[in-house]
Amino acid sequence: MKMIEGHAVIDVPDNVPVWDIDPYNPEILANPLNYYAELRAKGPFAYIPKYGILACGRHKENKEVFSDWERFVSSRGVGLQDFKLGKPWRDPSIVLEVDPPEHGRTRKILMRLMSPKVMRTLADDFQLAADRLIDELLEKGTFEAVTELAEVYPTTVFPDAMGLRACDKRRLIDYGAMVFNALGPDNDLRRKAMATAPDIVPWITEQCLRENLKPNGFGAAIYAAVDEGEITEEEAGMLARSLLSAGVDTTVTGLGSALWCLATNPDQFELLKSDMQLLRPAFEEVLRYTSPVHSFCRTADIDTEVSSIKIKQGTKILCVLGAANMDEDQWPGATKFDISRKPVGHMAMGAGVHGCVGQNLARAEVQAIFTAIANKVDTIKLAGEAVWRPNNAVHALDSLPITFTRK
Ligand code: HEM
Repeated sequence: MKMIEGHAVIDVPDNVPVWDIDPYNPEILANPLNYYAELRAKGPFAYIPKYGILACGRHKENKEVFSDWERFVSSRGVGLQDFKLGKPWRDPSIVLEVDPPEHGRTRKILMRLMSPKVMRTLADDFQLAADRLIDELLEKGTFEAVTELAEVYPTTVFPDAMGLRACDKRRLIDYGAMVFNALGPDNDLRRKAMATAPDIVPWITEQCLRENLKPNGFGAAIYAAVDEGEITEEEAGMLARSLLSAGVDTTVTGLGSALWCLATNPDQFELLKSDMQLLRPAFEEVLRYTSPVHSFCRTADIDTEVSSIKIKQGTKILCVLGAANMDEDQWPGATKFDISRKPVGHMAMGAGVHGCVGQNLARAEVQAIFTAIANKVDTIKLAGEAVWRPNNAVHALDSLPITFTRK
């Protein structure tokens, strides 16, 4: 069996075009729109010889592959590596990288602590922190929105909500970026990210221990499930790790992208200020339009068929969520950022049983920032060039100079 990047190389299925491209090329990762459009134009799937995988870009196939856990499993890894054929760099996540019925046991616990009811108890603190931050930034006028807003806000409210006793903002952000880069091939991005592992991973593991979590946060609620006999002490540490892996860098990315959308679409910001009912749909449109998590994999666990294409057991499929979210068949005028669109069914938070368990938290954070901005800020303008940072699974800004004027 021929292997590339830890998975079996498949033969090209009938009626699938071969596309000689590297989806992990840093230029494509930074500016992916043309790649997304070309991928969709290839049909339901394209075969990518560099990695011996299939990729799908249309909404229809992405939805089908991403949400059908019986045929397309997560337990064989959601990156390029097939966990059935080799040991991953860290123990697999017991929620993201596991299939039902086992998945339901751990997911249920996270769902409980991320419920809308729990989010309501956090809303006032979130709003206070958002109002304070936006006031500070208005004082400055011009600022760097990635480092001074997008990175600051989640690393202020999330550690408190989690109940972390120690907070190292840099390590929290960089851990997420590392975990996401690890899903790609053995390229420069992955190697550089993994070089930080010996420093970051032991720190993260330590913060997930019961004694390092305050009594009133998500962490303590996870350990309460141990006391109820639902999970073991070790599993609780793993679930806490899942929140630290997926809960910071994603929200930092979403917030940065939200600011970029508002700064580059002043008409939409005017609309947002004139109708606060649009706060929620506006973030959904940010998610659709920018797809913070641009691609994740699934592995076919049986021989099967999607859109009349025969797919062999063991095939790695790159689900390009960013391309699905720009599919004109699903979203007419997809390349326009339109906050009145209400893009129900976008793929930015996934779909099916693994759909983002932290989405209520991400929405609560962005809702608080949007509220503060809509109440206090008159105009948002770019004060320099927006630069995107390549990552094997996340589409994030590296730099976003912004000027706010006061209402
Ligand atoms: C804008 C912010 C966010 C985005 C775009 C995002 C995106 C996603 C996506 C696409 C998935 C599906 C993965 C898959 O099916 O393989 C996912 C799952 C997950 N997310 Fe998020 N996420 C965000 C915020 C958060 C936050 C704040 C947390 C927790 C504090 C979180 C925790 C998780 C976990 C634990 C999973 C795995 C769920 C499962 O497998 O059942 N995410 N997220």
